[in-house]
Amino acid sequence: MSAIPQKATGEIHIRGGVRLQGKVKVQGSKNAALPILAATILAEGESFLKDCPKISDVYRMLRLLQSLGGHVCWEGEGVCVSTGSITTRDMPADAITGMRSSLCLLGALLARCGSIVMEYPGGCVIGKRPIDLHLRALEQMGVCFSEEGDRICGRAPEGLRGAEIHLAMPSVGATENILLAAVTARGCTRIEGAAREPEVEALCRYLNACGARIDGVGTSCLEIQGVRRLHGAAYRIPADRIVAGTYLYAALGTRGCVLLEQAPSQHMHGVIRMAERMGALCQVTGEGLYVQSLGELTAPGMVRTGVYPGFPTDMQSVVLAVSTMAEGETRIEELIFENRFRVAGPLRQMGAEIRQTGPHNLWVGGGARLRGQRVEACELRGGAALVVAGLMAEGETVVTGCEYIERGYENICKDLRELGARIYSV
Ligand code: UD1
Repeated sequence: MSAIPQKATGEIHIRGGVRLQGKVKVQGSKNAALPILAATILAEGESFLKDCPKISDVYRMLRLLQSLGGHVCWEGEGVCVSTGSITTRDMPADAITGMRSSLCLLGALLARCGSIVMEYPGGCVIGKRPIDLHLRALEQMGVCFSEEGDRICGRAPEGLRGAEIHLAMPSVGATENILLAAVTARGCTRIEGAAREPEVEALCRYLNACGARIDGVGTSCLEIQGVRRLHGAAYRIPADRIVAGTYLYAALGTRGCVLLEQAPSQHMHGVIRMAERMGALCQVTGEGLYVQSLGELTAPGMVRTGVYPGFPTDMQSVVLAVSTMAEGETRIEELIFENRFRVAGPLRQMGAEIRQTGPHNLWVGGGARLRGQRVEACELRGGAALVVAGLMAEGETVVTGCEYIERGYENICKDLRELGARIYSV
């Protein structure tokens, strides 16, 4: 098999109304894997990333690494990446513009090669996603940026140097980019106001396993003492808290009872607490997270997204889908990204009562009887929310635009079939 298979994308067909039951293993985390793959650029040698998810965004990142001269090979339960010689040749533009995480290459390549020319990264259509915090921090570390048409050019003529950086907003991507630039920079870098998301912590742990010196891991103040070089390391990509949360709410919405093996419950407090408010019994066991519906599906009242450990914006669409059928009204306030309510349209098509009450606010009537429809996924998490709505709806739902879902879910149909759902991709 080629290291980077081309996946066929199609439609997902769901016959709703089945209570989910059984157990399923949660895949490795997309948002942890992508920056760690970018970080392999810094490790001169071989890294083995166990449980790296087989999703299209990972395949894109692997293509980018190959275009830079890296070697990649899937072996057993992980991927082996070797970046002995790296040159900043022209990277495939479609892989850069196709996902936001290609932005991590900025810090990694500036650190390894001293310069970079790349297209502005893309990603899901969830509103404006500026990169000012990334650029400003890297400038503080000695990088000069210019623009060439649609491309960003960055050069660090005297190499990268440590800096005192205060992030005005705890941006996940900016924290990751600064870490990547800082681990081999001259001197010490201090990041105040760093993002505390578990995926940032995973990146720190991988980098430290490669010989980096990062202190304050898991806190909002990170101190990085630059080292001359990094070596490769074996590292296990943690389980995906958003995929686990999706299946948790799918179980709750179908009044089911499931065990999510290896779910990272320690990083899911907000998600678990919200599910409990909606009528789930959740128990953390040695095997994973056990979720049982207590029968009634109750509206959560208020859902406000926030930075970690707040309620994750990536779970907002899925909770929205489930709350359409819950008893009572729900108000949703999205505080991280604008334009993250696109899934409201297709949910209304299925019978949900949803009104946008402000630029960041939705009102959900609750108590709807969702009916199967042909609906289109417009972005990753909204697409997963439509799958969950399809599981809860009467009749057949067809979700199109599944290439978005494949960006983050290894095999959502197979996973849900293991839990008894009648769901197929065609
Ligand atoms: C990452 C996740 C994404 C998640 C998000 C928030 C990956 C691959 N993606 O995205 O799934 O939804 O964290 O948890 O890990 N901002 C600026 N200027 C910047 C950078 C960000 O204004 O330079 C703003 C953004 O517009 C947004 C907020 O900061 O409003 C948070 O963005 P950020 O934390 O950077 O998210 P991402 O790293 O893009």
